[in-house]
Amino acid sequence: MSKEIEKAALIGGGVIGGGWAARLLLNGIDVNVYDPSETAERTLNEMLANAKRAYSKLTMAPLLKPGKLVFLDSIEKAVQDVAFVQESAPERLELKRSILNQIDQYTPETALICSSTSGLKPSALQSEMKHPERFMVGHPFNPVYLLPLVEICGGENTSAESKQSAANFYRQIGMKPLILRKEIDAFIADRLLEAVWREGLWLIRDDVATTEELDDAIRFGFGLRWAQMGLFETYRVAGGEAGMRHFISQFGPTLSLPWTKLMDVPELNEELIEKIVSQSDAQSGMHSIRELERIRDDNLVAIMQGLKLHDWGAGAVLKEYEERLYKKAHSGVVSSEPDFSKPLSLHESKVRPDWLDYNGHMTESRYLQVFGDATDALLNFIGMDETYRKQGFSVYTVETHIRHLLEVAGGEPLSVKTQLLGFDEKRFRIVHKLIHVSSGDVLATGEHMLLSVNTNEGKACPFGKILYEKLEKIWQGHQNLDVPDYAGKGIRRLEQ
Ligand SMILES: NC(=O)c1ccc[n+]([C@@H]2O[C@H](COP(=O)([O-])OP(=O)(O)OC[C@H]3O[C@@H](n4cnc5c(N)ncnc54)[C@H](O)[C@@H]3O)[C@@H](O)[C@H]2O)c1
Repeated sequence: MSKEIEKAALIGGGVIGGGWAARLLLNGIDVNVYDPSETAERTLNEMLANAKRAYSKLTMAPLLKPGKLVFLDSIEKAVQDVAFVQESAPERLELKRSILNQIDQYTPETALICSSTSGLKPSALQSEMKHPERFMVGHPFNPVYLLPLVEICGGENTSAESKQSAANFYRQIGMKPLILRKEIDAFIADRLLEAVWREGLWLIRDDVATTEELDDAIRFGFGLRWAQMGLFETYRVAGGEAGMRHFISQFGPTLSLPWTKLMDVPELNEELIEKIVSQSDAQSGMHSIRELERIRDDNLVAIMQGLKLHDWGAGAVLKEYEERLYKKAHSGVVSSEPDFSKPLSLHESKVRPDWLDYNGHMTESRYLQVFGDATDALLNFIGMDETYRKQGFSVYTVETHIRHLLEVAGGEPLSVKTQLLGFDEKRFRIVHKLIHVSSGDVLATGEHMLLSVNTNEGKACPFGKILYEKLEKIWQGHQNLDVPDYAGKGIRRLEQ
């Protein structure tokens, strides 16, 4: 099970199954879907369109080539040739058990099987399986294609190895697996959420607050804190220098005040349901669900990008994911020993929809983006990796000259050819050519000077041995290439 999973099956393609489909496909995994509903294919494709839009904003890293999506008309056909199955059917024990037994019967014995259930215990779900050791709950959060958390909960018969394999797979697709220590109803996150939801229902029923006021109480205050530190780290900070013990002694006693309704749940009768529904309509009825999904996605992307700046929480997961994407994109393009008698082909990309300007062409700044990514690919190729940077060395771009030659429309595939023009012990000079893959036209050229830097001292220094030797190796071939006539020239003066 240690091999990377390349094909998966989804049983149930509703809100959650559709979200899984988007995450898997956008991470280059082929997906088979079985869902008996006639509308499943349409709604899943709508969700996929929203997810593509969100990913194009989430990261500038070159995304993987999307996997292939196939709808099949039986569980048997969907699961027979895959290494991973995620069940996301309606939350009914008997239905899920019967679906999981069929999956167990028809999928290869080595395939992992996970259920998206929000609360059913895995021991109850796996009780009739022939190979229950590879089954567990993999509980995601909506929207599955953006939120990293997935709770892994094994049952009595789940093997520890399967849980680790599933965790590795979920990491591969940009998620943060949380393996539960014990099997419990509703797992961790929903237990917490339900406590808040229950209190919310009381506050609406007792006319203390409307749905909008409750949402405001969350999103303008503690919701922001929760997104970055959760509950306990936030309280630790709230305790001041005296810390957690002081916080508990100060606020612990309030738990016994009659603030909370604790485990009592208000009766969800028609009157209360109608009240909630009409308040919610007044609050959000002006937006369609697809619009609300896009608003939500944009906000989540912004939060995760903000956290990425501080390498923190969900932002740290995003950062790691992007590093993997860059590495994968670059290692996929580079053969271990390229032909140094030609310019290097180290980077490929595609003009994304949000890269377009008002003329429908790739906007100016994205040319530099693609050249910057190609320079990163070259640096990676010559050995400037995490280890090199941790030693306090890096390479900075100190000069750039871009010539914009041709326009290019959205969706067009791009590749970059890179030529080394010269180097010494502290600097190298390169020229990138941006190629339109389908026509072979040169769309732009970018000439760059790079400088080796000691990041601790903040000044130039000689290249490390690995980088210098690799540059020498490239130079053995590239010194024989023609130097482009525009190289070394700046922007022409108007009077010339
Ligand atoms: N909605 C959430 O926020 C959320 C979050 C985490 C987990 N979950 C869990 O995910 C699962 C699915 O929930 P959802 O919100 O996607 O529900 P949903 O109603 O949107 O989707 C369920 C899908 O299952 C399909 N289905 C019905 N019978 C089926 C069968 N026999 N075989 C295969 N598919 C069948 C339906 O046609 C539907 O498309 C549930 O177990 C739920 O508890 C939901």
